Amino acid sequence: MKYRAMRGTRDILPGETRKWQFAEGVFAGVAKRYGCREIRFPIFEATDLFERGIGEMTDIVKKEMYTFHDRKGRSLTLRPEGTASVVRAYLEHSLARRAGVVKLFYMGPMFRYDRPGQGRYRQFHQVGIEFIGSPDPQADVETLEILVGFLKGLGLRNLETRINSLGCPVCRPGYQQSLRDALAGITSSLCEDCIERVERNPLRVLDCKQEKCRLQFGKLPVMLDHLCGECDDHMKRVEEMLGGIRLPYRVDPLLVRGLDYYTRTTYEVHHAGLGSQSALGGGGRYDGLIEQMGGPPTPAVGFSAGLERALLSLDEEGASPDVAENPDVFIAPADETGEREIPGLTHRLRQRFAVERDYRRRNLKSQFKSAADHGARFVIILGEQEVAEGSVAVKDMESGEQAKVPLSAIEEWLEANLASL
Ligand code: HAM
Repeated sequence: MKYRAMRGTRDILPGETRKWQFAEGVFAGVAKRYGCREIRFPIFEATDLFERGIGEMTDIVKKEMYTFHDRKGRSLTLRPEGTASVVRAYLEHSLARRAGVVKLFYMGPMFRYDRPGQGRYRQFHQVGIEFIGSPDPQADVETLEILVGFLKGLGLRNLETRINSLGCPVCRPGYQQSLRDALAGITSSLCEDCIERVERNPLRVLDCKQEKCRLQFGKLPVMLDHLCGECDDHMKRVEEMLGGIRLPYRVDPLLVRGLDYYTRTTYEVHHAGLGSQSALGGGGRYDGLIEQMGGPPTPAVGFSAGLERALLSLDEEGASPDVAENPDVFIAPADETGEREIPGLTHRLRQRFAVERDYRRRNLKSQFKSAADHGARFVIILGEQEVAEGSVAVKDMESGEQAKVPLSAIEEWLEANLASL
């Protein structure tokens, strides 16, 4: 074969797209019930936006961006995530003026040059939420409610919510120093990436997935023990509220996330059946990002979730929705007269029903086969005799029974019989 989809990308074929539409519909439904409105932003942005937004030292910026130069020599990058773009759009269009808290949702493809594997792609799809403008822990909890509500709305059961706090510019530097000191004692047993991280971004060490590093982490100090009074209160209120709405969670002091903009609350929801790529979604608070991108100090919190992983988990749980796309009715001409009537009748019925037909002028028996292949429950048969009588024959493919229905009343007949299925 001459051409194939690029490694790490995949086609979503017609048999699957219904699942995607279902998932996107569930997400948009939950998001709207929490008062979020949709935002759509470009697939590429200035490279600098992501470097500054996500953090120069993160794996995403250092190793995973699809960066290229356009014909005028500008450095552009395919969006690896949505938060930086949402903040850019929020500032560019002064969205802040229109409402106290701006609550946005988005869905679409993201691009990361990662090693492809189960649940990890180079083009993948996220749904996401950003609440901009509230420092209140209720906003943290509501965004997490949306994430969990979405995943449960898909039908998923084996979910695990993990939360942590990453502190703020008041308490984090002191913690980072004590982490750096502790790491200095074990540097020789860390992987090369971690050795590099110790100086420039010690928190990121805790995100390392290598077994030899993880074995050491039990001995390290954790942010939760170094929170300032305000961050500690914030965390306590988040936990209280999660208890109040009975959302089960586990505090995970090693949950540091792969992007640099987080402050205070961070969270992830994992699925038990997904192996190493088990994070279905993650997010948290990013109170410093908007100011860092040139805006006024503005607190914000949000998350995004990967649709591929959510759908894989549904398959894994055997909970994928029934995604049959059967036509309501199949129309089969019985002869030349029927053929002539077909375009008019299909056009008329398609104003209300999903109508399938055969385009090959074949005999009735072959057309019934084709109707069965399409999963049509009813077949309308139309020939010289029916046209003369002003009626059609409707065959029920399940019972094999055939009814004669006046042509003028066919919509009502279909309406009534489809509704009773
Ligand atoms: P993230 O944790 O980098 O966060 O990505 C969120 C989710 O996207 C992951 O939990 C995972 O399900 C999915 N995902 C990430 N990379 C891949 C990949 N290579 N293949 C398949 N799925 C993937 C963010 O992107 C932040 N912008 C979330 C956020 C929003 N924080 C605040 N607001």
